[in-house]
Amino acid sequence: MEAYTIQGGNPLRGEVSTMGAKNAVLPLLAACVLVRQPVHLSGCPDLSDVRNMLRLLESLGCSTRRQGTELYIDASDAQEHVMPENISKLMRSSIFMLGPVLARLGRADFTYPGGCEIGLRPIDLHLQGLRALGAHIEEAHGHILCSGKLTGGSVHLDYPSVGATENVMMAAVYAQGDTVIHNAAREPEIVDLSNFLNACGGFVHGAGSGTIRIRGGAELHGVEYAPVPDRITAGTLLLAGAATQGDVFVRGARPQDMQAVLAKLHEAGCDVRVYEDGVRAQMRGRPRAVRRVETAPFPGFPTDMQAQMMSLLALSRGTSVVAENVFENRMQHVAELMRMGADIQVSGRIAVVRGVEQLTGARVTTRDLRGGAALCIAALAAQGESVVENIALIDRGHERLEETLRALGANITRIQIDE
Ligand code: UD1
Repeated sequence: MEAYTIQGGNPLRGEVSTMGAKNAVLPLLAACVLVRQPVHLSGCPDLSDVRNMLRLLESLGCSTRRQGTELYIDASDAQEHVMPENISKLMRSSIFMLGPVLARLGRADFTYPGGCEIGLRPIDLHLQGLRALGAHIEEAHGHILCSGKLTGGSVHLDYPSVGATENVMMAAVYAQGDTVIHNAAREPEIVDLSNFLNACGGFVHGAGSGTIRIRGGAELHGVEYAPVPDRITAGTLLLAGAATQGDVFVRGARPQDMQAVLAKLHEAGCDVRVYEDGVRAQMRGRPRAVRRVETAPFPGFPTDMQAQMMSLLALSRGTSVVAENVFENRMQHVAELMRMGADIQVSGRIAVVRGVEQLTGARVTTRDLRGGAALCIAALAAQGESVVENIALIDRGHERLEETLRALGANITRIQIDE
């Protein structure tokens, strides 16, 4: 197993750049299944989730190539409708392929996806949406067997699920006829997918609002496209800077995608400055507690930043309340933060964080991707040495996080340890 050793106590200072967002790249790769010509995606991070998505594309008959941060995908020969179970078990995002494969090939044979254990993560909304477009879906023994020629339809999502919105959007672009998605997710990555589909010749309108309209049946053509910058990585790095009482500029960060996080950073006493080419956060002295952090669909506070925010609040002056409203099992970092001396009480989805003056280095384990990043933030701010185990989960969303943090002055090393 790989781990990080981190010597805490150095304020992080300096400048780093963001790359394309994992949560944008993954659905874009799925959308490539709909395009019968080569697609070139630039600025793509080399993450284990991205590598697995490329393997899935190859197993469907697509060709893929990475050159540095550039990805080249050619789905003209996509013909396989069976998703290999061993890869799809590794990642939740394999489900994004369901709509595109079904739309393009008329059938899809999938297994239930894996991913971080942050909650039940059902896929009922994905299936409900595809059924509304005419898909015939049978679920048996962990398999999802889909067939049918898709036609446009009206889809109302009971909850603005990011993945379900993306799945239906992609299927609807290929289906014949018009589709309307009501109560759609409004995340920047949804807008990015819409921009990509439109750049390929699709007709998607309203992405970023709760109602998305899609005119189906367009023949999509190849394109060169740069995915939206990663707002979660950017936020994580800004919070790492703030927690260590440092000064970090993230080039490429888009403030309009990060308002909720920047507002909380400001409330915590951070000097947040927005520039044309990025965002800077400088923290002088100890952070202040914030009134309440409530995770919610965009533009609310992102659940993917909850754990990292908690590391900052653990060190703040005063008591903060954090409510996790999106996933039901996303507090696993709390027990680990407490090993470092944090004072946090959890009751269901609510955590009461009483800030302490100092955290101390400890041996802690990553339970999920963002929780792992939160442990790194806490370790960077703590006194003494920490070992953060099981960082393969962090690698799912951060490309060599240690190098980025070292560029900001962190004392962090990747090591191999016995399990
Ligand atoms: C995406 C992001 C993930 C982020 C999440 C919420 C990607 C690759 N991942 O995940 O990083 O944490 O959005 O911002 O983009 N739900 C159902 N039924 C469904 C689908 C979802 O009940 O069919 C529930 C989930 O269990 C969860 C909530 O809806 O409680 C939000 O999930 P969703 O928005 O779908 O998240 P993902 O698309 O999986």
